[in-house]
Amino acid sequence: MTILRKLQLSAAAVALSTTGVVAQEVEVLHWWTSGGEAAALNVLREDLAGNGIGWTDMPVAGGGGSDAMTVLRARVTAGDPPTAVQMLGFSIQDWAAEGALANLNDLAAEQNWNDVVPEALQRFSTYDGDWVAAPVNVHSTNWVWANTALMEELGIEQPGTWDEFVAAMQAAQDAGYTALAHGGQAWQDATIFDSMVMGVGGPEFYQAAMVDLDPEALGSAQMVEAFERMAVLRGFVDDNFSGRDWNLASAMVANGDALFQIMGDWAKGEFINAGQTAGEEFQCFRVPGTEGTVTFNSDQFAMFNVTDATAMEAQTAMASAVMSPEFQVAFNTVKGSVPARTDISPEAFDACGQMGMAQLAEAAAGGGLFGSMAHGHANNPSVQNAMYDVITAHFNGEYDAETAAQEMVTAVELAM
Ligand code: GAL
Repeated sequence: MTILRKLQLSAAAVALSTTGVVAQEVEVLHWWTSGGEAAALNVLREDLAGNGIGWTDMPVAGGGGSDAMTVLRARVTAGDPPTAVQMLGFSIQDWAAEGALANLNDLAAEQNWNDVVPEALQRFSTYDGDWVAAPVNVHSTNWVWANTALMEELGIEQPGTWDEFVAAMQAAQDAGYTALAHGGQAWQDATIFDSMVMGVGGPEFYQAAMVDLDPEALGSAQMVEAFERMAVLRGFVDDNFSGRDWNLASAMVANGDALFQIMGDWAKGEFINAGQTAGEEFQCFRVPGTEGTVTFNSDQFAMFNVTDATAMEAQTAMASAVMSPEFQVAFNTVKGSVPARTDISPEAFDACGQMGMAQLAEAAAGGGLFGSMAHGHANNPSVQNAMYDVITAHFNGEYDAETAAQEMVTAVELAM
């Protein structure tokens, strides 16, 4: 801990000893505005309130967080950073590189974060060996959410291959249902694309194209095939998909208007918030072809450097609360994600949560764990946004598959 931080913390201690009350308050910038997300956020707010920490809410709606990051940049540029910010992967690294984030090493050492947080998350929670963010969870994007009653009505078994997946959607469409519930927003198109790349070429191809940005892979026949699969999925969405928020697409599956949704497991938070139970009203399974792999993203709270000692106390208390085993269970069972700690029992989690925890451990051990491109864990924001532009342009018919693959090579080269 820096000398300055020690002095500021001791000032807070003095304040506490003289007045007996330190009005600890955190202003939190986040994008958790859907029903399920708000329910999970409430777990955090109530937990902090129980620790005497007040909450000033700074929600910025917009799935995937890109709008939130734009607002954050404006706040920091104005010299008025929030106390804590929900942040993903490479964005944490960018802000840390700017020296904007507080050092959490003392708390991390006191609570043995090095031992309980998976390496894959530490890669993003730390910068130059210093802890700069507290991970709340592990989400993953290669999930299909299915309406059980519709599967039974149409006689559909869980698809294990791409062809079976397409046949199931065709059956739903032929029966007059929406086969694939989807929201036509770039981040949602990209969320599906994670799985198309993994499904076509497996871990090696995903690593080469999404992480290493190998132009050979980005312009390859496999990339063309990934875009061709996106075009197949485009044929299974409803006419009103464009601009739809992700949680409204989840509601289409929950209500039985649609058979499937390909979405990160934050979608499960919507089904739970609607009073549904995993394995009963809805099913979860990995996108066919991606079994054995997990494309993950972790929501982390980055603490911005603040000068006020009381705010620093509140940041430490918030980071401590986020990492507590009890909170990790209470929050993640509502959010749809799995814990950011490896020492949490799965017993409190539902069937999808227990599957997710087991598959995360297996993928981590077996070389199948990869950062989601769509959610900031494969590359920096400029590359991610360049990919978004090509993927959504293709999904909206501006490019055919071959052109899209060529555009990926060009767009990524310009963004690197
Ligand atoms: C992800 C985030 C999730 C959820 C989702 C939809 O990036 O990790 O917690 O908010 O976006 O907005």
